[in-house]
Amino acid sequence: MSTAAIIPAAGLGLRLGGEAPKALREVGGESLLVHALRGLRAATAADLACVVIAVPPGTEQAVRELLQPYSGPLELLIVAGGAERTDSVRLALELVPAEGIDCVLVHDAARSFAPPDLIERVVAAVIGGAPAVVPAIPVTDTIKRVDAGGLVVDTPDRSTLVAVQTPQGFEPGLLRKAHSGDTGGATDDAMLCERLGVPVLTVAGSQDAFKVTRPRDLILAEAILAERRSS
Ligand code: CTP
Ligand code: MG
Repeated sequence: MSTAAIIPAAGLGLRLGGEAPKALREVGGESLLVHALRGLRAATAADLACVVIAVPPGTEQAVRELLQPYSGPLELLIVAGGAERTDSVRLALELVPAEGIDCVLVHDAARSFAPPDLIERVVAAVIGGAPAVVPAIPVTDTIKRVDAGGLVVDTPDRSTLVAVQTPQGFEPGLLRKAHSGDTGGATDDAMLCERLGVPVLTVAGSQDAFKVTRPRDLILAEAILAERRSS
């Protein structure tokens, strides 16, 4: 059993603001990308063999040097990302070894604090036979569908809604097939599998796997880190 992970880290982090691309912004003295990589490595039952990271074009060498101390025995590959997240994932997927990998994870650098047990749950479900797996948590807001004019169209029953996170896990051949077609409008990788008619399984997510998106999220990230370092 062997797992590969793709980390899309090529976004600019416009909503977060600041000078550096989001994945290179620091929390507790280390970049979000380093935190994400450490979480994946800590998921020992995932049996991670290879990590491919899509980074902003031009930062490849800097990221390679940054991650050198954290890679250990992992095969660590860096690739220039693309214009959209799906482009970054596709470009990284091209570097995932064609043989010997049973599960491919796609994990946002911005979900830097996804706990190792969540990562292991996703991998276990893929190895157990689910072709596509997403971590999910219940939504706490009431969600409404609205039209272009801002009028509410309807309110889906909240008990049927979940928010999904990463890492999402896939049978390697399925992920390749999902990314070989039109990826327009897809906001996650599971959606591409849904379009192929493949069942997508949810497993329990975690609040700690939230996506660092806006400046205040850095405060929550600092708090999670402080809590972990003190325990
Ligand atoms: N990402 C990527 N390539 C892109 C866009 C996004 O690899 N062209 C990555 C981001 O680096 C991030 C993940 O996809 O780890 C989720 O994207 P998001 O949270 O939207 O990050 P950004 O696109 O960087 O942020 P923003 O949308 O605020 O600019
Ligand atoms: Mg974005």
